[in-house]
Amino acid sequence: MKNIYPFKSKVGYEQRRYQMQQEPRLVWLTGLSGSGKSTLALRLEHHLFHQGYKVFLLDGDNIRNGLCRDLSFTQQDRKENMRRVAEVANLMLEAGMVVICAFISPYEEERELARHIVGPERFTEVYINCSLRVCEQRDTKGLYAKARQGLIKEFTGISAPYEVPQNPHLILNTDQEKIDDSLQKLVTLVEPQLRLQQRMKAAM
Ligand code: ADX
Repeated sequence: MKNIYPFKSKVGYEQRRYQMQQEPRLVWLTGLSGSGKSTLALRLEHHLFHQGYKVFLLDGDNIRNGLCRDLSFTQQDRKENMRRVAEVANLMLEAGMVVICAFISPYEEERELARHIVGPERFTEVYINCSLRVCEQRDTKGLYAKARQGLIKEFTGISAPYEVPQNPHLILNTDQEKIDDSLQKLVTLVEPQLRLQQRMKAAM
């Protein structure tokens, strides 16, 4: 950027990780509206917090109420939504946090952008797989009904696409298994990723 001179903190990433006693990581949950992303994200955050991890959840509906309140649901704005969220998550990772993101994030390109911004080695992608039929049956917010009536434009799954992740670290089939079982699988994947590396324990 022109006339901008970024500088580095005197506190290093290693020092922060050591102080926080954890490996910073972004756990990215993607899936249709009503697939169970927020429910699982809340449960995961609660579990990790009580295991002693410094963890924070960024969720679509909350972020769109503040940081991204100016954005619509066009592909371009969804991309900007992801870019901002990934930049915020990246700062939180740099500060040593574990971050959970729950966004529909329907486009492969946006998820790739998020992975690129935080670095692939700190990025865990989880596909919350639930059929459109079941999401629509649940219709917890009544949005699918409105979308079918044409009252909401560009609604994911109805009048806007959802691109299924090609290579996620984990797929949770929330229309086929109990929420506790999905959570268990998520915890089994994520928790070992957060343990401070042995090398770091000895370093300071
Ligand atoms: S994303 O596509 O940009 O990732 P995000 O996760 O932030 O979406 O927000 C999704 C939430 O916005 C949904 O859970 C729903 O409550 C609300 N919403 C409002 N309009 C739409 C729409 N056209 N498509 C999808 N979700 C919508």
